[in-house]
Amino acid sequence: MMHIDIISVVPGLLQSPFEHSIMKRAQTRGLLEVRVHNLRDFTPYKHGQVDDYQFGGGAGMVMMPEPLALAIEHLQKERTYDDIIFMTPDAPVLTQKTANTLSLRENLLIICGHYKGIDQRIRDHFVTREISIGDFVLSGGELAAAVLVDAIGRLIPGVLNDETSALSDSFQDDLLSHPVYTRPANFRGWTVPDILLCGDPKKVDAWRYEQALERTRERRPDLLDKEENTQPK
Ligand code: ADE
Repeated sequence: MMHIDIISVVPGLLQSPFEHSIMKRAQTRGLLEVRVHNLRDFTPYKHGQVDDYQFGGGAGMVMMPEPLALAIEHLQKERTYDDIIFMTPDAPVLTQKTANTLSLRENLLIICGHYKGIDQRIRDHFVTREISIGDFVLSGGELAAAVLVDAIGRLIPGVLNDETSALSDSFQDDLLSHPVYTRPANFRGWTVPDILLCGDPKKVDAWRYEQALERTRERRPDLLDKEENTQPK
């Protein structure tokens, strides 16, 4: 079973994202456990203080090192973490490859930042991996953490059934997904491509591959830079 602990100053934001659909299934099948911890429960300061002005001046508060260190060390008494991850926009952007790697871990701890960020010393001495979910700034790391947990959780062996297999996802082979269709074959006069109804799985696979390649060329040519991705498998 994979354990994911999340440290947050707004734990309410993470109350329900994992209680639905595939993340819920992962948890009810005993394959994943997600726990959200309130950073304020660990602060030694008055009134639940967790942030302060930054040295050197400048707008925006910084999350203090002591509450974070105490929270991390408290959780480390119970588990040894394979990675302590900090969600932050100034980090490498999450890729399917990273999600694949992390889905094989046993225990992960995710720290959500707020305000101007967290004291650099926590990043230097506790954090082992920093992840951004894209080149935009969210108001806090919670939604980014939810994205990360979802991307990882669905890859844990046994979470997805055959019909939702992750193997044919966009990005799993650096190509975007091909178009998909379901019943009815004729919807308001808009018909499904004939080849999908021909019953020849080889032809269907070839068509899907061409479509995936075409879509990738149009929308994400950067993904095709690696030469191997233009060679049919
Ligand atoms: N916190 C704020 N913005 C973020 C982003 N883009 N990715 C990860 N964490 C964040």
